[in-house]
Amino acid sequence: MPYFGINVFTMNVLNLTQMLEFSQKGDERGHLVIVEGMKDIPFEIKRIFYIYGSDKDVVRGQHANKVSEFVLINVAGTSKVKVKDGKGNETVYSLNRPHTGIYLPRMVWKEMYDFSEDSVLLCLASTHYDPEEYIRNYDEYLKIVSESGEET
Ligand code: TYD
Repeated sequence: MPYFGINVFTMNVLNLTQMLEFSQKGDERGHLVIVEGMKDIPFEIKRIFYIYGSDKDVVRGQHANKVSEFVLINVAGTSKVKVKDGKGNETVYSLNRPHTGIYLPRMVWKEMYDFSEDSVLLCLASTHYDPEEYIRNYDEYLKIVSESGEET
């Protein structure tokens, strides 16, 4: 599947997904958490956006990205992230501490939900925004994954 740059299909995307713990430099003045591209996370940061004000029953995301990698950090409040590989496997991560985040590789299906009222979900992305690289239809995602022809 050469058009994705690296062949993520040779690895199970859920194995690439992982929780990250960031350096803390807090002192008596308060907390400070550091996230540097290519040091604390495995890509250079091209874009940041953040999500807040989502009700508890809202499900966001519901897409996979052909190119972008992300790190999601609940800098305030809590939320959950469900990741799926399109092959029947899924994992749920709880984001509940400002110094931890989840790394999401390309081609993982993701859903963010169960937002606390005070949730501010910071998203770091490896790319500038390009709607063309988003797969927003789950059936299309399943088709692309199955056509990759790789076994996990
Ligand atoms: P969307 O991807 O649906 O948000 P989420 O994944 O949090 O559910 O994005 C919502 C809208 O914002 C959609 O119209 C696309 C737009 N958008 C941008 O223009 N640039 C961006 O970097 C992002 C993430 C979204």
